[in-house]
Amino acid sequence: MAVQSIQRFQKLKAENKKICFITCYDFTSAKIISGSNIDSILVGDSAAMVCHGYSTTIQATTEMMAVHVAAVRRGAPDYFITADMPFLAHRKGLKETMATVDRLMKSGASAVKIEGAKGHLDIISHIIESGVPVMGHLGLTPQSVHQFGGHKLQGNKKETAEQILMDAHSLQSAGVFSLVLEMVPGSLAKKITNELHIPTIGIGAGPHTSGQILVWQDLLGMDDEFSPKFLRKYLQGQTLITDALNQYCDNVRRKHFPGKEESF
Ligand code: KIV
Repeated sequence: MAVQSIQRFQKLKAENKKICFITCYDFTSAKIISGSNIDSILVGDSAAMVCHGYSTTIQATTEMMAVHVAAVRRGAPDYFITADMPFLAHRKGLKETMATVDRLMKSGASAVKIEGAKGHLDIISHIIESGVPVMGHLGLTPQSVHQFGGHKLQGNKKETAEQILMDAHSLQSAGVFSLVLEMVPGSLAKKITNELHIPTIGIGAGPHTSGQILVWQDLLGMDDEFSPKFLRKYLQGQTLITDALNQYCDNVRRKHFPGKEESF
């Protein structure tokens, strides 16, 4: 059921109802989501990896994000769509930050997501004071992959867990409407979720967050080689699609397709 406002997210948390997010990058998938029970869509900068084949999200640009946001908006006109601010977009001064926010919102986003907290809390407050909802993102923030030395669990040591907890409170004070917690121990995600009044959305963060998010391609099993511990595949997409393609080739080669009924 499409969530259409940040107030509704707060209500879902207050009522202890789990929130279901999914990422999306294109029109056709957004149309399918529109007919499902998914609550909300993130146009993640994971687009750089799952749509464009890069090995990190660093290659996502404002233009890349804007094209994906516009396509998703056309497929899911009634949804609250959050768009990722791409790598460094919020670290190049206020003018450039606001130009990116402007571009994403005019492309059809309802909110933006910004990774991390330290060093850009003022910018986050400014965006929110400008009327644009902001979602936070802590734990494994993939744009900092080289700082972390890989896509690894974060907050598994006392000091880093305390830092993430502090950052979560700072982001809430800055006014974010929700917070993604990625690849952190379940116990830390639970503590943060219990201490904050805004909803937390987990990925690899255990069952105690206010909601969950998965990448579209991961949930649908589009890559047999990608099977991290946190992922549950709800379809064997790669196998099913490969089978369909091979069936089509077989039909063409045997001259079974097109048949009479598919010809003019
Ligand atoms: O870019 C993305 O897809 C994300 C989610 C995994 C939270 O940030």
